Order: sequence, then C-alpha cells, then structure tokens
Amino acid sequence: MPELHDQFRRPLRDLRVSVTDRCNFRCPYCMPAEVFGANYPFLKDPQLMSLDELVRILRQFLRAGVEKVRLTGGEPLLRPDVPELVRILKQELRVPEVALTTNGWLLEKLAPALRTAGLDRVNVSLDSLDPAIFAQLNGRGLKLDRVLRGIAAAQETGLPVKLNMVVQRDVNEGEIPALAAWARERRLVLRFIEFMDVGNHNGWQMDRVVPAKTIVETLHARWPLEAVGPNYRGEVAARYRYRDGGGEIGLISSVTEPFCRDCHRARLSADGRLYACLFAALGSDVLGTLRRGASDAELFNFIARVWGGRNDRYSDERAELLAAGVPRKKVEMSYIGG
Ligand code: GTP
Ligand code: 5AD
Ligand code: SF4
Ligand code: SF4
Repeated sequence: MPELHDQFRRPLRDLRVSVTDRCNFRCPYCMPAEVFGANYPFLKDPQLMSLDELVRILRQFLRAGVEKVRLTGGEPLLRPDVPELVRILKQELRVPEVALTTNGWLLEKLAPALRTAGLDRVNVSLDSLDPAIFAQLNGRGLKLDRVLRGIAAAQETGLPVKLNMVVQRDVNEGEIPALAAWARERRLVLRFIEFMDVGNHNGWQMDRVVPAKTIVETLHARWPLEAVGPNYRGEVAARYRYRDGGGEIGLISSVTEPFCRDCHRARLSADGRLYACLFAALGSDVLGTLRRGASDAELFNFIARVWGGRNDRYSDERAELLAAGVPRKKVEMSYIGG
C-alpha cells in the first residue's frame, strides 16, 4: 500500500478517536458549565459510532498508515464498551499502540480491565493538587482524591501513566512546582500544556498563556533539566529530563512554538466525522458514508481523499489569523477529543 501524504507531504500515522462527546467534568477551558448545561445538544446514541462501526472504520485507517490510536472524549471511560474496544484493537486488529486520555474519575474501577484488554498507556489530566482549586477547575466540585486513586490504580496494574496539566496564568500557574515535585516522587511523566484557543466558549486570551519556555526556566532553577530528543517524529511534547535522575517532563507549546509541520494526526469525532486538524470547522462524514452502504474499499478511498487534500496548519497561522481579527468557528474540543 503506498503511503498517504497530505498537501505538505505529512503522512497519516496517528488517529485520535473521540468515543463520546459527553463528560462528567465541566472544565471551564473545555466545557464551561454555563454553556454545556442540561439543554446542550449532545449527540444522541444513534448518532454515535457503534462498536462494530468503529472497528470497520478503524480497519481502514490502519490500512491508511495509522500506527497509534488514542481514545479520547469527552470522557472516554463513560462509554461502557471501551475495554472491549481496546481488546479488539490490540488483540484482533493488532494496532501497535493503543492509548487513552482520561480525566481519571473512573480509572480506579477500570484500570485492571483496560490493562487486561491490552491498553498500552494512559494520559491523565491533572491541573492541580490543591483540593479546592481542583474542585473549581473541574466545574463540578468533584474530589481530587478519587483521581489520585485512579492514577495509583493505573500504575499498580503496570500501565505507563503520563499527567497532563493545562497551565493558565493566575489560575494554576503557582502549582507548577508542587505538581512537578509530586510527579518526580512517583516517577510520572508530567506534561505542561499551554492553554489553547480551542472551541468557541473558553474565553481564551493570549495573556492567560504561560509560555512553555517560562515553565522550563522556572523548573530548571530548582531541578536542573536537559533536553531529550522526541520518542517519535511528530511527538507533540518537547521532552526534558531532570539531571538528578528524577524522571522527565514534557512541554506542549502549541501556542508559542507550534508543531504543525510534523502533525501526522487525524481526528475522528464520536459521530464518525474525520477532522484534519484540532481547529478545523468541518469534518468529513465517514460514518454517514459507511451507513449509506459503502464497501471497505470505498471507505478507504474516502479517507485517502480527505487526507490527500489536507492543508491545515492552524497553530502555525494562529498569530496572523488573530491579528487579522477574522472570527473563526471551530469544533468543540470535547466533541473532537483534544
Ligand atoms: P502521547 O502519545 O503521550 O505523546 O500523547 P499526546 O500528547 O498526543 O496526547 P494527549 O491526549 O495527552 O494530548 C495532550 C495535549 O496535547 C492535549 O491538550 C491535546 O489537545 C494537545 N494536542 C495533541 N495533539 C495536538 C495537535 O495535533 N495539535 C494541537 N494544537 N494540540 C494537540
Ligand atoms: N487548552 C489546552 N489543553 C486543553 N485540554 C482541554 N482543553 C484545553 C485547552 N483549552 C486538554 C485537557 C486534556 C487534553 C485531552 O486536552 O486537559 O489533558
Ligand atoms: Fe475537562 Fe477533559 Fe472533560 Fe474537557 S473532556 S471537560 S478537559 S475532563
Ligand atoms: Fe496539527 Fe492542527 Fe494541531 Fe497544527 S493545529 S498540530 S495541524 S492539529
């Protein structure tokens, strides 16, 4: 099978699949409670890809070159068939790498089943170690302890765990050293994510972004760091390791140092639309194509056509677009899966 390339010769390697647009948290930077309330038009069950439909679609993405599948949401663990999906991906479709991004709320209960199913790794969002700030940041007053138990449970099953902290100026910036110390003690990889202008509701402003460079300098002053090369071409996080052997950190600097040039990621929404970029406004309806009776070959060709036409590089263009003041409609992050 010849490799697929987009308009900038970027191959398709990595697929992020949102299995549900719902979440049990209401983080203000992603699903602010005042917008995502009781009347929010979440997808209805018949609109979601069923397990069988997902597997059929994923097979064609694998033929197209995908080597890594990341399950996201909303909150992916709200969907009861996720362990079974992982089992099929690993044991039947033989996907080289299957990972999951979660808020950790259901992880204590589900970590063993996910591990048994063959999950390779898990990334858990953790924006604060202060119970009061944590409760505020999840928009629902939910308890930090339970997420920490989820992280411990995942580690106990042997799953490699990374932590994701979205850093916001004047919100949780002050907690960077505490989170770093906590992660060092447990040998967890902590990644700091620059606050991004995803979706249409999160009140993003450039002055609330703490640049990755500032974070590295702050930590380096306390625990000297050195840069490490990427684990794979196109890795989102820039890696650093503590010189004293205290493990490693990552910086996801999509605002101050965009990485579109090596972006090999496609995104599939929970209702089966293919998005070529996190900041795209429109998706291509793979599930609709399947439901209209397309053969596997036709599904493959559909995916190949979308990827072949891809010319997205939003983070590279962000500064110009914002300066030009052009309003832009984007998909919600909870729908497309981060
Ligand atoms: P690893 O496989 O562990 O390297 O995972 P990852 O960093 O790709 O996945 P994760 O779900 O942990 O993502 C962490 C953060 O990076 C999230 O906030 C994502 O939205 C952001 N991110 C991931 N991919 C992209 C991307 O293609 N573009 C942008 N701008 N941000 C991304
Ligand atoms: N900026 C940066 N990261 C975000 N995430 C959600 N919304 C944003 C945003 N506005 C992160 C979550 C999670 C990952 C999937 O995406 O914290 O770690
Ligand atoms: Fe928060 Fe993740 Fe849920 Fe968004 S999907 S509200 S970032 S837990
Ligand atoms: Fe890829 Fe779009 Fe993110 Fe750039 S902004 S790295 S093209 S998903």
